[in-house]
Amino acid sequence: MSKINSACKEVIEKSEWLAIATAGPDGPHLAACWSQSARTLGCDDDTIRLPAWSYFRTEENLRQNPRIELLFASRQVARPQGQGQGCRIVGKGRLETSGPEAEAVKARFPGTRGALVVTIESAETQL
Ligand SMILES: Cc1cc2nc3c(=O)[nH]c(=O)nc-3n(C[C@H](O)[C@H](O)[C@H](O)COP(=O)(O)O)c2cc1C
Repeated sequence: MSKINSACKEVIEKSEWLAIATAGPDGPHLAACWSQSARTLGCDDDTIRLPAWSYFRTEENLRQNPRIELLFASRQVARPQGQGQGCRIVGKGRLETSGPEAEAVKARFPGTRGALVVTIESAETQL
């Protein structure tokens, strides 16, 4: 069965940006990415890849605790009760600066240091 239902797929397709949450020694940490970048690198049922220019603190947090959550949202997606929908993705993240995933991202986004690779465990709508 698909981990990402059709409503979540539509949110990922239509959202402008996404929030990236990790947990560190001082508590939660947020970073962000343009959704277009995620779409360019290919979002499938198992993996989302984001271009890493920075994400240094995110990387450090993931070394200690690989749990990561992403939140996409778009007012352009209709839900049964109205307009607007969000999609929260829960998974494991790692920052890859070498290897095939990193090289693919560096080729597509020159100047990046690698790929923030998210292995999806679950996805659910938020509204
Ligand atoms: C809308 C938006 C999109 C962003 N896209 C990226 C991106 O694709 N890659 C990146 O490294 N930083 C991006 N940033 C900047 C990071 O979120 C920000 O520099 C963050 O603090 C870096 O992560 P860190 O705090 O874990 O080091 C973006 C910020 C915003 C607000």
